[in-house]
Amino acid sequence: MYGYIQPIHSYLAWLALGLIVLSVVAAMLSKSVFKDTYRKIAKFGLITVHIQLLLGLTLYFISPMGFSNLSGETMKDSFTRLLALEHPLMNIIAIILITIGHSQSKKLDDGSKKILIFYTLGLVLLLSRIPWSTWLG
Ligand code: HEM
Ligand code: HEM
Repeated sequence: MYGYIQPIHSYLAWLALGLIVLSVVAAMLSKSVFKDTYRKIAKFGLITVHIQLLLGLTLYFISPMGFSNLSGETMKDSFTRLLALEHPLMNIIAIILITIGHSQSKKLDDGSKKILIFYTLGLVLLLSRIPWSTWLG
């Protein structure tokens, strides 16, 4: 199972980050070019980060780098700490922010500002805790 979920989580990360960036850009341009299309893009972004959440939570409990690797020793090393603690925790917070932004934007006539603020915050948190060295290395 680990052999399937790890690569899916790794490849879907491209789509998730791409769609969140696109959501922010579409929300910025929503007044002129995009009108209501930003809602659709933001919805696809939300779905993809929720799938990442589900895959990530599963991975956390089956990966040798996740929960089973939590210890005092792990905390001393910045890379093992990133995978066992910082990436999961920070990304859950980021996904909660993105979910709140999407939910609030739906209630408004022009919800693009909510998308802009919450998705940008979420994106910054996500980007701050990606294990870049293994992902791209
Ligand atoms: C949009 C949200 C997320 C994105 C974009 C993302 C992205 C990534 C990326 C790029 C990697 C490295 C993959 C590789 O080296 O090939 C990774 C690994 C990992 N992620 Fe996430 N992630 C997200 C959410 C989560 C969440 C919410 C959790 C847990 C609650 C999680 C748990 C993990 C774990 C445990 C690993 C290490 C797996 C291993 O190498 O054994 N991720 N993630
Ligand atoms: C651990 C797994 C998951 C949790 C905890 C979770 C939680 C949530 C929460 C709290 C909302 C917000 C509802 C609101 O707007 O008030 C939501 C919305 C949504 N989720 Fe998830 N979700 C998960 C997995 C998934 C998956 C796997 C998918 C898709 C395959 C998904 C698709 C959606 C969609 C489409 C919406 C928004 C519907 C809308 O408001 O238009 N979620 N989810």
